[in-house]
Amino acid sequence: MTATDVMTTSALPQVTLTLEGVTTYVRMRKLLRPVILDVGFFVRPGEIVGLVGESGSGKSMTARTIAGALPRGAVAEGVVGLGEENLLTVSRRRRREVQGKQIGMIFQDPKAYIDPLWRVEVHMTEGMRVHLGLSKSEARARAIDLLSAVGLDQPERRMRQFPEELSGGMLQRVMIAGALSVEPSILLADEATTALDVTTQAEIVSLLGRLRAERGLSVLFITHDLALADQICDRICVMYAGRIVEVREGRGIFEDPLHPYTKDLLAARPNIRKRVARLPVIKGTPTSAMDAPSGCAFHPRCRFAVEACTTTFPQLTAVSGGFVRCIRAGEQLWSEPRAEKGQTASETEGNSAAGG
Ligand SMILES: Nc1ncnc2c1ncn2[C@@H]1O[C@H](COP(=O)(O)OP(=O)(O)O)[C@@H](O)[C@H]1O
Ligand code: SF4
Ligand SMILES: [Mg+2]
Repeated sequence: MTATDVMTTSALPQVTLTLEGVTTYVRMRKLLRPVILDVGFFVRPGEIVGLVGESGSGKSMTARTIAGALPRGAVAEGVVGLGEENLLTVSRRRRREVQGKQIGMIFQDPKAYIDPLWRVEVHMTEGMRVHLGLSKSEARARAIDLLSAVGLDQPERRMRQFPEELSGGMLQRVMIAGALSVEPSILLADEATTALDVTTQAEIVSLLGRLRAERGLSVLFITHDLALADQICDRICVMYAGRIVEVREGRGIFEDPLHPYTKDLLAARPNIRKRVARLPVIKGTPTSAMDAPSGCAFHPRCRFAVEACTTTFPQLTAVSGGFVRCIRAGEQLWSEPRAEKGQTASETEGNSAAGG
């Protein structure tokens, strides 16, 4: 059985969303250039799966491929499985229908997606009227319940307000309530808390956790912030240069990272419990899928690269509790003891791993 088989549908009795071998190209000067390559993962009902990686690694393009919100001229191939259907091969009309009803999406900047001229009520009820066929009064009643469920006080008053009258955190709650209004199978949250202050960020993360527990909501939680992913995710997929390079269950990537990139990402994140003179950064600059070098895409930045890494393409390989894409994954590349529970591997090494 290959890594792809294990990671995706065939071995799993119940999944909400499956991606198998998904490659997406954008059109640049008439040429198709890849932005994500052979991406595969699954989300079960009630699971929150994290997609993490540096800027440009392909996280948003993965979400946009699932949601059918690609830039003009882009092409996606592979399987985006929702229910029994592959959204990449059904008719355009069916795809729109499924994507509008079964996939909710929330973004970093709700202001960019909520029409400033619409009262909250219009934003909240439109999807329910179009996709669920509810009457105006039914949709209104449900909208009030949902605003209350996402923790907004005075929901009736909020319905009458315009976006500019609400704070960023309140607007994000409106966006979540709006996304949930059509009872989607999955919520895609793309950097949904990044623009918020730390307290509001924590509140929104805990809201998603509560919605998962209460409603069995499935979430693809996209973030560059590993600490946030650690708080809420059941499984984490790490992306680099448009590909998944590590997938681990639970706190696997924090307790025992296997890919050198994951290891460096952990070391480079701020540690609020430890003061360091200089925050380590991952050396070199990230590469995109379209500019990736031969062999392992991470090799120009990797502290553990050997000659073979420049020529051998690493496959995603099964390991205990996940998958890793590194030809040296079987070796003990770093020697520090494994982290205690509740402590990350990067903390055990004093945040010095990524220096070069
Ligand atoms: N609208 C677009 N047209 C062409 N290329 C794009 C567009 N948006 C993003 N890209 C490219 O796709 C790659 C992945 O970007 P993205 O998915 O936005 O990364 P992330 O969300 O991980 O920061 C990057 O190389 C980026 O330059
Ligand atoms: S394959 Fe080589 S270059 Fe790539 S992550 Fe592994 S050791 Fe580093
Ligand atoms: Mg993004």
